[in-house]
Amino acid sequence: MILQNAKIYGQAGKWDIAINGEEIKSITPAANNSGDGDDNAVDLNGKIVLPPFVEPHIHLDYALTAGTPRWNKSGSVFEGIEIWSERKQIVKETKEDIKQRALKAIKMQIKHGIQHVRTHVDVSDPTLKGLEALLEVKEEVKPWMDVQLVALPQEGLYTHPKGEELLEKALKMGADVVGGIPHYELTREDGVRSVIKALELAEKYEKLVDIHCDEIDDEQSRYLEVLAAEALKLGIGDRVTASHTTAMASYNDAYTYKLFQTLKKANIHFVALPKANLHLQGRFDNYPKRRGLTRVKELLEAGVNVSFGLDSIMDPWYPLGDGNLIHVVEIGLHACHMTDYDNIVTALELITTNGAKTLGIKEGYGVKEGNKANLIVIDTDSEYEAIRTQAPVIYSIRNGEIIVETKPAETTMNVPF
Ligand code: FE2
Repeated sequence: MILQNAKIYGQAGKWDIAINGEEIKSITPAANNSGDGDDNAVDLNGKIVLPPFVEPHIHLDYALTAGTPRWNKSGSVFEGIEIWSERKQIVKETKEDIKQRALKAIKMQIKHGIQHVRTHVDVSDPTLKGLEALLEVKEEVKPWMDVQLVALPQEGLYTHPKGEELLEKALKMGADVVGGIPHYELTREDGVRSVIKALELAEKYEKLVDIHCDEIDDEQSRYLEVLAAEALKLGIGDRVTASHTTAMASYNDAYTYKLFQTLKKANIHFVALPKANLHLQGRFDNYPKRRGLTRVKELLEAGVNVSFGLDSIMDPWYPLGDGNLIHVVEIGLHACHMTDYDNIVTALELITTNGAKTLGIKEGYGVKEGNKANLIVIDTDSEYEAIRTQAPVIYSIRNGEIIVETKPAETTMNVPF
């Protein structure tokens, strides 16, 4: 297959991308062929080619459960946790039920050009059937999607009576990443212990770490400093991710200045979830209401890796969501005051290269000769318009095969101008 007249994201000019089998064989200046008469050629007419989108933070075992057994009235993180806990008692799902929901959600993600996903999985259920389901899903979808599993002690590592035991069991069963939720533990001390324990387990089982960290509008919630400091001391920052960190939006600037010195040295990754946290945070504020997003712009300016994720597809924490990450980026740029030109034209890095770094994808990712032919094409020839119009993914190519093709909508207008 040859992709003719392609624009590569962030690069000038037009290119012909030749794919041989599962590999990108060559990338050469466009020969201005139109693709006519060649069944193996696709004329992209200047449309942008990128590496596949990366979803660094989703909960596939929760997907498509919003409204059962009840809707989240307060819209808060804590009511979400209560509803999920109730659901587990009331709705007796089988492993197969969970798999079917996860597969439906993955299909939405594939449609939107995602080929790498990190999903958190609740390991507070003593049967661990959610994890069993997702371990099977991970194998089944491999031809179309790479899935990383985070063992998340949703009801607390120490708040849940068997939290620690279940987390360790989940890691032995094959979860790739150690999770945590320190702001949900009963005391500050338990929260600190849970972060330290997560890092200890990551070392013991050679796993990555991704903590739901300070997802609260409490300026006193400071587990991030513990996570960063411990990662720094152990020298494993590149394997550690802090998700949400919404409390950082409420920290005073003097403390934040000091914190940033540690973050720069620790080399940990951040995931911000703009749609979910605009929805969940500020729920206990009267006016003015906080946006509840971490300091994305400032972290990026400090050279810290940040990616964007969706978090939820219709679950007790967030009632909407369809897997579309460009929409997350568009909203996130608004919410983080990043709607300046330079941030707009580089914004898709938040859901491509930055996400890949977070997931620890070291090799083979990117539109480069010799890499796997895993690519997407979006329906625009401009980095700027990609955000302004939330350009749809028109092709997703995996191992040299087109796995998604979307025909953009056509509009006819009867107006005199
Ligand atoms: Fe989450």
